[in-house]
Amino acid sequence: MGLSDRHLHSGMQTTALTPALGVEVSGVDDLTDDLVAARCLEALKWRGVLLIRGLDLDDEQQIAFSGKLGEVLAPVGKKIFTVSLDPAKNSMAEYLKGTFNWHIDDTTNDVPAKATMLTARHVAMVGGGTEFASTYVAYESLPEHDRKRYDGLRVVHSFEASQRLVYPDPSDKQIAAWRSQPTHETSLVWNRADGRRSLAIGATADHIVGMRPQESRELLDELLAWSTREQFVYTHNWKVGDVVIWDNTGMLHRALPYDPTSERTMKRTTIAGSEPWA
Ligand code: OGA
Ligand code: MN
Repeated sequence: MGLSDRHLHSGMQTTALTPALGVEVSGVDDLTDDLVAARCLEALKWRGVLLIRGLDLDDEQQIAFSGKLGEVLAPVGKKIFTVSLDPAKNSMAEYLKGTFNWHIDDTTNDVPAKATMLTARHVAMVGGGTEFASTYVAYESLPEHDRKRYDGLRVVHSFEASQRLVYPDPSDKQIAAWRSQPTHETSLVWNRADGRRSLAIGATADHIVGMRPQESRELLDELLAWSTREQFVYTHNWKVGDVVIWDNTGMLHRALPYDPTSERTMKRTTIAGSEPWA
């Protein structure tokens, strides 16, 4: 059987989640199929967020499917991580409070993850969705004079900036702990090897290099507000068994509020990127 026959028989269908971003893939019968993985990666590249409902993956299956998309990282020592605000389920629960603000993961690393996969194991009764905003679409939609303004600007990202949004009045001990994490400078507009452009903004964006603090804050806030306008956002309301994968290099994301004592439990895998931040 030739590739195109398998393609036809695989029965995969794609449906846009919103006009600007996101794609739902249905009719996936074999997650071990290389063709399925290739089509998912292609869809992810152009749509930023990929949803497959009702897969009900267990940990091993999630790691295996992630492995079909690239190299699975183990950022906290294991390949699969539990996202829960319950300290009994997640030793890093405290830091997860930062995920309620728009952010991009890995802005303080040299190379951001290519993709992140979340699967829903338990959902909150109220709230607890995840929102995604495409900085590719946001950049493309910018007026020419704004593009010119942003050209050549550089941003420093820090863990401290993202934690200050959660704890506006930190203790010296907290500040010291945040500052023990490395900061990282990137270009504000990332001109990628493939010619696409995205923005390095969100909660970790601390300041623009060489700009007065207030001006810098205003510019970063303005750009975040622009990038998270309704037409650039997809809100995912989780059902148990859903798989959502996002392009972490260009998509902002945030968790929507939920009761911290709720059952909400997600499992997360991270797929290595290859292009360093510019
Ligand atoms: C993450 C994240 C959002 C959520 O895992 O990186 O931001 O909805 N999660 O749990
Ligand atoms: Mn995140």
